[in-house]
Amino acid sequence: MRAIVLVGGQGTRLRPLTWRSPKALVPVLNRPLLEHLLLHLKRHAITRITLAMTQRNAEIRDAFGDGSALGIELDYAYEDTPLGSGGAIASVAQGWDEPFLVANGDIITDLDLTAMFAFHREHNAELTMHLHEVDDPSEFGVAVTAEDGRITEFVEKPPRESAPSKLINAGNWLFEPSTISGLSPTEFNRVEDGLFPQMCEANRPIYGFSQPSYWRDIGNSESLRLVNLELVDGAIAGRVPADADGLLVGAGATVASGANLQRPAVIGDDCTIGDGANVTSSVCWDHVVLEDGATVHDSVLASDVTVGAGAIVEHSVVAHGARIAPGARVTDQQVEPDSVIEAAP
Ligand code: GTP
Repeated sequence: MRAIVLVGGQGTRLRPLTWRSPKALVPVLNRPLLEHLLLHLKRHAITRITLAMTQRNAEIRDAFGDGSALGIELDYAYEDTPLGSGGAIASVAQGWDEPFLVANGDIITDLDLTAMFAFHREHNAELTMHLHEVDDPSEFGVAVTAEDGRITEFVEKPPRESAPSKLINAGNWLFEPSTISGLSPTEFNRVEDGLFPQMCEANRPIYGFSQPSYWRDIGNSESLRLVNLELVDGAIAGRVPADADGLLVGAGATVASGANLQRPAVIGDDCTIGDGANVTSSVCWDHVVLEDGATVHDSVLASDVTVGAGAIVEHSVVAHGARIAPGARVTDQQVEPDSVIEAAP
């Protein structure tokens, strides 16, 4: 089966981390987010994959090339201006004659796509959507289903108390080729706002597939932090080396014997963690330096960040190359790339 992965977004909610790294390349367990998704597709025999993107995302091509390093066939489709999910799908899949999968590029899941495809065929669906149950659906598109899984209604971002269902559109959709015939390939349109509700209204066979699985979309830095910590803690079997035991330390990292790395935590390649430094519930990308006695708590530190001796970073996001001076305290902040935070006088 072929797939389209949508990676053309701006990643605005992940700023300041996405000023220098496209969302698809932000690290999850020290590998690009998108690599996890591509390998998941491969596990379900989906190996011909088109990445739908804009010129702004060109670095993604540098990272993945033709896909052969991952054992898949990758190609790239570029939009001059963002076309939205509908425009991207219509322009890429024109002329395709078999069912295909569309995945949002910012999702980490172990969903059984093979079972989802079997469900799609059994129900003669025109479109099957992965629906994931969440406690609070108020930030998502919510689907209401009949007993057989047919979707009868969509409600966008309902208040938590009055949400008609807890099943959200989880960003994995199986399309029949004919389903896209009404979509414009040249004008911005989103299937979430247009095609999907229209299919319900017209009583076309659009189904929801739901099963217990791990699922998170990486919308903001907090979900990025949580995904890293949950996965290093073993949320999806086989994603971390068996001996990681809640702590992943990248190649070439130097950790002083007096450093205190509390599980779960993820430390990138070539990091230096000094004596007496403390890390709890945090994620450090590559080349991060924590000087002696520095503390990092509930935070994400992008590549090349330095936290000076005795400085404290808590509940914060520190973007590429920023420097926290010795003795400084950073609480609940988003620190921009290359900035310097001095200690209070
Ligand atoms: P925010 O700006 O923070 O909302 O992030 P985002 O740009 O990634 O948007 P969103 O989370 O809604 O997008 C879901 C997925 O669709 C992501 O993988 C995006 O890269 C992708 N995407 C969003 N808009 C477009 C688009 O216009 N074209 C393509 N090809 N992909 C898109």
